[in-house]
Amino acid sequence: MSNYYDRYEQLHAEGPFISQQHYMGRTIYVIGQKEAKQILGDHKRFVKDFQNTLPPEQRTPKVQSNDLFSLLYDTMLSTDAPDHTRLRALISKAFTNRQVQAMAPRIQQIADKLIDDFEAKGSGDLLDLYAFPLPIIVICELLGIPAKDRDKFRVWSHAFLGISMNDHTYVESLMAFVQYIGRTIQYRRNHPEDDLISRLVHAEDNGERLSEQELFSMIALLIVAGHETTVNLIGNGMAALLEHTDQLAILKNRPELIDSAIEEFLRYAGPVEFTTERYAAEDVEISGKLIKRGTPVTIILGATGRDPNEVENGSKLDITREAHQHMGFGYGVHYCVGAPLARLEAKIAFNTILNRLPNIRLAVPPISLEYNETSVVRGLKKLPVRWD
Ligand code: HEM
Repeated sequence: MSNYYDRYEQLHAEGPFISQQHYMGRTIYVIGQKEAKQILGDHKRFVKDFQNTLPPEQRTPKVQSNDLFSLLYDTMLSTDAPDHTRLRALISKAFTNRQVQAMAPRIQQIADKLIDDFEAKGSGDLLDLYAFPLPIIVICELLGIPAKDRDKFRVWSHAFLGISMNDHTYVESLMAFVQYIGRTIQYRRNHPEDDLISRLVHAEDNGERLSEQELFSMIALLIVAGHETTVNLIGNGMAALLEHTDQLAILKNRPELIDSAIEEFLRYAGPVEFTTERYAAEDVEISGKLIKRGTPVTIILGATGRDPNEVENGSKLDITREAHQHMGFGYGVHYCVGAPLARLEAKIAFNTILNRLPNIRLAVPPISLEYNETSVVRGLKKLPVRWD
């Protein structure tokens, strides 16, 4: 992992952009924070749907497709206004600060129960025992799906993100995921409750606001984005803290620093390494670089958090930093909808584990911690820890 970040340090010395040959031609990767904000903040000139880079007369109208990939991957993250605005409005009410704060007592109960169940073991993989189940139980309850199916979601969302899968199990897992979503929609249509899926099904049934394909892909996105990222905020953050015992000691002495520590984990070892792609809708010049119409552009969020022009001593974990210069939740109109929930889950997760298992420590040398091989989500394979 550190090598990855060392490489960013070298690349920052060469400038804010990296240009690379890619399946769609030349792609631009952005590592400068100022440039990244300019691009993500300019959703008119940097669009998500490639069609919107073409002159209007050359665009082909979007057809509703119910193939496996559209059902899962054609999400709000791949649309522009007005579709994006409509889709985002449908779910953003569920994730306001007020709505999310109301979930705190239940999240606390979940964290305590998980620890009650494994406390006596004395050692184990913190991802399996704690970092994974906590956010998946929360998102299942919010959506209205049984948390007992959580191990299936783990397999499916790893397939969705292309983590540790061969081609055969990849397609099989995606098909099982789509079928599961289909059954859930059907069930909630017949048995509505006060949950997000019931509300989305109701929105679909009541007119033009959500197509069937959009309903599927929205649920898939919420299941995947709702836990895979938060798991790794807890996992990467905990690993960073246990590797840097000086920072752990500071946090134990000054627990009020928890919010600042979480922002620092998002900067130092954030779970989302790359944004999804944007395309230049016209020729645009940024910091002297000409980005031609149609060029795919991806921001390397992990590198922008260590941009030496914006962040002092970026390679140092410092939970007392006052300015939180990171883009861990993205920026602009696609800024993470779930950020308030992720922050709250992380806060409860860190506070509870440090209170209940105050001498938790790594059970292996830091050098042997291994990360999953995928470019989008940065997460550990295992986090072996001990406590007594
Ligand atoms: C630590 C946890 C999380 C991190 C680091 C994270 C990060 C991100 C990032 C970087 C984006 C923007 C991607 C881009 O612009 O290409 C994003 C978008 C999104 N996130 Fe999160 N996320 C987290 C948790 C969550 C949770 C808990 C949910 C929902 C329950 C969620 C739902 C979404 C959705 C729906 C979008 C798309 C927003 C849009 O297109 O307008 N995320 N997230």
